Amino acid sequence: MENNKSFLWPQGILFALLAISASLSVGVMMLLKPNTSDARIKTNINSINTITAPAKAGTSQRIEKLKLMMLNSLQQEARSKGLSDGVPSSFQGTTIKSAKVNPSQKVIALTFDDGPWPETTAQVLDILKQNNIKATFFVVGQNVKNYPDLLKRVVAEGHAIGNHTWHHWYHFMNPQVAAYEVANTTKLIYQITGVKTDLFRPPGGMMHNGLVSYAKNNKYAVIMWSSDSADYSRPTVPKLINNVFRLAKPGGIVLMHDGGGNRSQTVQALPEIITRFRKQGYSFVTVPELLEIQDKNDKLIAIKKQK
Ligand code: NI
Repeated sequence: MENNKSFLWPQGILFALLAISASLSVGVMMLLKPNTSDARIKTNINSINTITAPAKAGTSQRIEKLKLMMLNSLQQEARSKGLSDGVPSSFQGTTIKSAKVNPSQKVIALTFDDGPWPETTAQVLDILKQNNIKATFFVVGQNVKNYPDLLKRVVAEGHAIGNHTWHHWYHFMNPQVAAYEVANTTKLIYQITGVKTDLFRPPGGMMHNGLVSYAKNNKYAVIMWSSDSADYSRPTVPKLINNVFRLAKPGGIVLMHDGGGNRSQTVQALPEIITRFRKQGYSFVTVPELLEIQDKNDKLIAIKKQK
């Protein structure tokens, strides 16, 4: 038994290293090409999961570390080449309720707040994966601390991450407390996933308790919503769905929750919400992608005006 183990173990490590270095070089080559998207980088990272799947349990922790190292290096690479998740500069320090897009651009961003949360975050992720949809998760720092693996899964599956403070407090906060609430959450997200988020959503949509002014001063884009599922008040599933569609529009941002309480209605309603949006001709984008679409439109309009 022991002999067998000592033989397999270095082989497993070698295999993992080879797989990672191969993917890393492919990743860097992809980054050198124009029009490389973050999606490709993420696909690349996901491929590591497949390659290393049969690895022995003893080595899985080391592989996790190597994967994170690779994730970080790819994201640094992406950032240095201007391919980061970052919002366009025109949105830094602004508040966005929806993106201004052409009525024919039927795009919508699903957002999920207050996680990561046991059971429901994984259930939401499963549904999104089945439907090949990328969404945006506004996470709470103390939940990230409690459930780091769920956050890693969110990022590994290609979703965007936003900051939803550390404690999810509503009361007024002085600048020091506001800084703690926002900066510590961003720092922990970065430490766990390598993602440096510049999206912020204030708990309860509170605009004047010190958090939003801190976020704006620090160049976050403050992301609100145009369509509120009101799932936090635990409506029936048909009511929840109706809430989403009442104000749904191209460029819209839908507010839902994967954490913070019992979210079984949200999980139940999500497949129907997805089906109905698709029937209406919508496609799903992350919040950074949505802002990117408006940014392109704005630039085109600016060029037309110059002519
Ligand atoms: Ni919240």
